[in-house]
Amino acid sequence: MNEYGLTKNEISKKLNSLLSTDETFDSGKIIGSMCTKPDSYSQSIYSKFLEKNIGDPGLFKGTLLLEKQIIHQLGDFLFYPKCSGFVVSGGTEANIIAMWSARNYCKKNSPEVIVPMHSHHSFDKAADILGIKLIKIPCIDGIVDSNLIQKRINRNTIMLVGVAGTTPLGLIDPIKELSDIARKNSLLLHIDASFGGFIIPFLKGSKFHLPLSDFKFPGVSSVSLDSHKMGVSPIPSSCILFRKKNLINNIKINVGYLSGGSEPRPTLLGTSPGASIITLWTILNFNGKTGYRKIVNQCMENTIYLYEELSKIHNVSVIQKPTLNIIGFKINSNHRLIINMLRQYGWSISVFPTHIRLVIMPHIRRKHIDMFLKDLQIILKNTL
Ligand SMILES: Cc1ncc(COP(=O)(O)O)c(C=O)c1O
Repeated sequence: MNEYGLTKNEISKKLNSLLSTDETFDSGKIIGSMCTKPDSYSQSIYSKFLEKNIGDPGLFKGTLLLEKQIIHQLGDFLFYPKCSGFVVSGGTEANIIAMWSARNYCKKNSPEVIVPMHSHHSFDKAADILGIKLIKIPCIDGIVDSNLIQKRINRNTIMLVGVAGTTPLGLIDPIKELSDIARKNSLLLHIDASFGGFIIPFLKGSKFHLPLSDFKFPGVSSVSLDSHKMGVSPIPSSCILFRKKNLINNIKINVGYLSGGSEPRPTLLGTSPGASIITLWTILNFNGKTGYRKIVNQCMENTIYLYEELSKIHNVSVIQKPTLNIIGFKINSNHRLIINMLRQYGWSISVFPTHIRLVIMPHIRRKHIDMFLKDLQIILKNTL
């Protein structure tokens, strides 16, 4: 740190130079990430409310009220408006809270949670932190094999997890079957809809219509959905919803000293941005269902276009027809080399052990897809 501060001009120059190596969503070349660029309206709202700290909710009762409204609105389109929940920092925090509340609610000595093999590593983190054993169930064609679950349930099992929008391929686990198993065995069922939660409800009635994965199924006890993914809200932003209030009561912590006079919300973070809540409230109400339908359907149109074009390319194998706006594909020969070349051409793809993942977020336009296809074909030609 300098003894005397730099001028704004000097800072600006330094920042421009130091951040010049960052990728931008505007380039259209971040084609493997589940994040996107928030629009200028949400940026302006966010920057107006930087002082709000929802870690001390008694000071910011208005922000707290907006959070309640958000949870009610999301619960409404997930078929349980009476749900309780919180706006949190991301899918990781939401999933950890779901595991935390399940552990404290069930009060078993050696708790176990059954998750699909493809589940996000936030469950591994949660298991490690909370002392829960994770039982990982193999998948068939990318979704959990629900027939194997019953065999792994024992007296220590507290919860099942299903995913709506899997990390590797954007697929949806058989939520109805999971709900039936959870009910039959009196278990909790958490749905990680971090990716799909802001997509699936808005595809209803369109040609991309998908089965629901929410509180419509009576066995579902909690749902996480990320507003900083397809909810297009600025980072950090995600939501965790619970069917029963007593799931939350078990993770409440009393501290007594907060200057607002209220107890903290039972989330993982202490001091945390109220601006995330205010901006999410704004975006939900500004876009409305129609706005989200438009965003989501546009992403799906682009995904299907890219899928069809990729399928025509020699030496490329697309894993399967996309369910959501995620495509997995591999190169039949020189897979590793092609990945490196795509990176050299500036494409930020996501690489899994079995395939390359493309995520067609709202910032990816048709022209970016055409650029990607063109570069891929040039690379394939040059590496033959
Ligand atoms: C299915 C799923 N759940 C949870 C997460 C974690 O989300 P975050 O990165 O916001 O913590 C991800 C992130 O990719 C995800 O794909």
